[in-house]
Amino acid sequence: MKEKLDLLNKKIEEAKLGGGEDRIAAQHKKRKLTARERIHFLLDEGSFEEIGMFVMHRSTNFDLAEQKYLGDGVVTGYGTIHGRLVYVFSQDFTVLGGSLAEAYAEKICKVMDLAMKNGAPVIGLNDSGGARIQEGVVSLAGYADIFYRNTMASGVIPQLSAIMGPCAGGAVYSPALTDFIMMVENTSYMFVTGPNVVKTVTHEEVTSEELGGASAHSIKSGVTHLTYANEVACINGIKTLLSYMPQNCEDDAPSIPYEAADESRLALNDIIPENPNQPYDIKDVINNTVDTDTFYEIQKDFAENIVVGFARLAGKSIGIVANQPAFLAGVLDIKSSQKAARFVRFCDSFNIPLLVFEDVPGFLPGTDQEWNGIITNGAKLLYAFCEATVPRITVITRKAYGGAYDVMNSKHIGADMNFAWPTAEIAVMGAKGAAEIIFKKEIAAAKNPEEKLKEKEAEYAEMFANPYNAAARGYVDEVIRPDQTREKLIKAFKMLENKVASLPKKKHGNIPL
Ligand code: HXC
Repeated sequence: MKEKLDLLNKKIEEAKLGGGEDRIAAQHKKRKLTARERIHFLLDEGSFEEIGMFVMHRSTNFDLAEQKYLGDGVVTGYGTIHGRLVYVFSQDFTVLGGSLAEAYAEKICKVMDLAMKNGAPVIGLNDSGGARIQEGVVSLAGYADIFYRNTMASGVIPQLSAIMGPCAGGAVYSPALTDFIMMVENTSYMFVTGPNVVKTVTHEEVTSEELGGASAHSIKSGVTHLTYANEVACINGIKTLLSYMPQNCEDDAPSIPYEAADESRLALNDIIPENPNQPYDIKDVINNTVDTDTFYEIQKDFAENIVVGFARLAGKSIGIVANQPAFLAGVLDIKSSQKAARFVRFCDSFNIPLLVFEDVPGFLPGTDQEWNGIITNGAKLLYAFCEATVPRITVITRKAYGGAYDVMNSKHIGADMNFAWPTAEIAVMGAKGAAEIIFKKEIAAAKNPEEKLKEKEAEYAEMFANPYNAAARGYVDEVIRPDQTREKLIKAFKMLENKVASLPKKKHGNIPL
């Protein structure tokens, strides 16, 4: 028995070494943690149970017959975060560059299958050179097996992907199919084809960081949802993000105990500027409404004209979508529509109620927007709100103009409660533009056209730049003082707690992709 136990211990030690001491040292030199260290920081102490430690690759091509690594370059298993079950796979760059092959893919599929059967999130810690070149088509098959599972799991269990090193080729598509991608500044990058291939094909000279680093994907492409200064911050980010989510689509998000208090927030009365064309920061509205320090923003550097993120209201998890007047006047454009639509769909998939703050002058005009498909992309957000069945509330703080009024969770597309501040302007368009069109002849014929325009603008504003026409028709349920917002929202979401709504029977809808 002793001999057998010694052999087991030897194998465990060997598996824990991954690609060996030198390679671990090289990983540390690059300011990167090892696959096992990442799991150690992620999970509750002592909760990790490893699965498949002794799995080995089967290929003997090239020199793979001599190179045998226990675990085949990925550490998989389960454990808990804040006491809640999660499944995890952590790719080990020290073994053949974390490249994915047959046995490696099977290990990931095994934990994904378990996660689906047991209704718990899957967290992928990615650090991989893509398909293992020496194993050929079985590597591609392995990826496809994972992609299929990512898709089947979508909307059933939360799937989070942290990118903690290079992720090239097939290694980027599994994260892309998951709900959230987070990256680490300076040590992680994602691309389908790397700088060398780019240079050969397009003659562009670009570094890995420029092509697919954290800032490229957080600012330019929007591929990543969150970026962090280092790996430990990223791992803590995963834990925070999970705290807003349920374990699966049948579950409710965890709530934290909340004692009712004075819910009035006087600071909200002073946020909207006197001049309706002056910007203000919608995040001041958000932070003054939700529970203190609970707003967790998603994609903060991408399409800043819309703000999305999670927060807590009276201890309960909510998703927030808000136009940002401080950036591009809060217009809706292609990127902001895509960003918000995806967030709305996540919240709806996982029973997280939606709160919308609306101050939107309309859609961004121009050839760039039209030729790149603002019609299709704007429709994504419209579609996402229309099909969302979670409790949905809108607060119109200022402008709700034109088609954007309809899109931003209007009553007509299924919002449950709509509040408006007295500063709300609910109209087809702004007063100046409206006066220019409908009083065109009168203005042209006037002795002083400029003065006439001002007069007509004021007339239109008096008639439409207010929330009362909409309230008279019941499109707005109540006009409230800003300081009442938090209290009204807490009560309304409580009232909607047991909301039941379903969609017509169908295989699936056809969102304008
Ligand atoms: C096998 C690989 C590998 C791979 C890296 N390695 N990628 N082995 N298959 N895909 C090995 C290297 O040979 C090296 O081994 C070790 O991992 C570390 O790699 P380095 O290049 O030394 O590291 P670094 O300089 O940090 O560069 C990392 C890298 C680079 C950017 C990931 O290795 C790279 O470009 N790899 C190839 C990426 C790629 O083209 N993948 C696409 C595969 S096709 P030694 O023993 O020398 O230390 C694909 C299609 C799937 O994924 C499609 C599905 C949709």
